[in-house]
Amino acid sequence: MSHDQLPMTVPAEGLPARVRIHEVGARDGLQNEKTAVPTEVKAEFIRRLADAGLTTIEATSFVHPKWVPQLADAEQLFPMVSGLGGVRLPVLVPNLRGLDRALALGAREVAVFASATETFARANLNRTLDESLSVFEPVVRQARDAGAHVRGYVSMCFGDPWEGAVPLDQVVRVCRALRDMGCDELSLGDTIGVATPGHVRALLTGLNAAGVPTDVIGVHFHDTYGQALANTHAALLHGVSTVDASAGGLGGCPYAKSATGNLATEDLVWMLRGLGIDTGVDLGRLVATSTWMAGHLGRPSPSRTVRALSHEDTEEH
Ligand code: HMG
Ligand code: MG
Repeated sequence: MSHDQLPMTVPAEGLPARVRIHEVGARDGLQNEKTAVPTEVKAEFIRRLADAGLTTIEATSFVHPKWVPQLADAEQLFPMVSGLGGVRLPVLVPNLRGLDRALALGAREVAVFASATETFARANLNRTLDESLSVFEPVVRQARDAGAHVRGYVSMCFGDPWEGAVPLDQVVRVCRALRDMGCDELSLGDTIGVATPGHVRALLTGLNAAGVPTDVIGVHFHDTYGQALANTHAALLHGVSTVDASAGGLGGCPYAKSATGNLATEDLVWMLRGLGIDTGVDLGRLVATSTWMAGHLGRPSPSRTVRALSHEDTEEH
């Protein structure tokens, strides 16, 4: 077997024809690394992801460098990749200072990141939930005035390590607030990976009932309990066609206890390929990229698909 191994394609009813993968490995993945990754390696990672066919690659965050030192090189990194043709390069901005930094470098897509819970808003943004929404309001307005596309993340949509269960209406309220501000799209974050498929369907149904259409919703599953792919399938059945994932399953959040890596992009591409859903991604190139990155990080990728496909190259069967 080689990198070219692919699943048999057997389409299933009721799923979108095409899925846009919002690749977060360079941001969500690298923000959590203990060792500093050189800026040139990050740039090469992003170039390779683009070469593998990913068209939305979250590049970095313009947050406070002391809060996330791993991404303190955003000013150096962004210009190194901003010329990549045909690739959307969203960046995270927590406030107006972050937006100014991003726009000054020509960013065309930004993301604010809210929390469905009070405790995480304080841990991640040093603000109450409502204070953080007040901070985002002018960020979204000014970003849109500048012609930028705005994504609104909502973390802890399915559970919170401090508060436990998170009521659906609390999540819906924050999503609605971000939409009312003008966010073009939302991303529902399962920051600590506790969601299960019925919960995903229930939240999507609740959002629709509150006037948030499915076509502005993306899903962002961390894979702590191995549920990310099942949750993604549930979201696809509901009509969601934007799925966040990180190459090689890198990821986590430095301000959330028990957050592990995101859904691995390779695992997602394998499933979508089998379902006959077009992503435009070359799985072999992507696996090679994650294997290369794992070499830089000094540990193997947790992605089952990366392991299966990269082991096959070196082992006799
Ligand atoms: P703060 O300390 O309250 O900031 O942090 P402040 O507003 O009080 O300002 C203090 C100083 O920081 C000022 O400097 C500001 O200029 C400066 P001084 O006047 O004292 O010299 N400052 C900045 N400098 C550079 N860039 C900025 C910036 N903002 C203020 N943008 C703040 C508040 C929001 C800045 C801080 O809490 C922060 O940076 N937090 C980011 C945390 C983070 O990045 N978390 C990970 C991303 S979220 C995530 O991973 C979840 C997600 O994946 C979805 C999911 O899985 O759920 C998206
Ligand atoms: Mg995340």
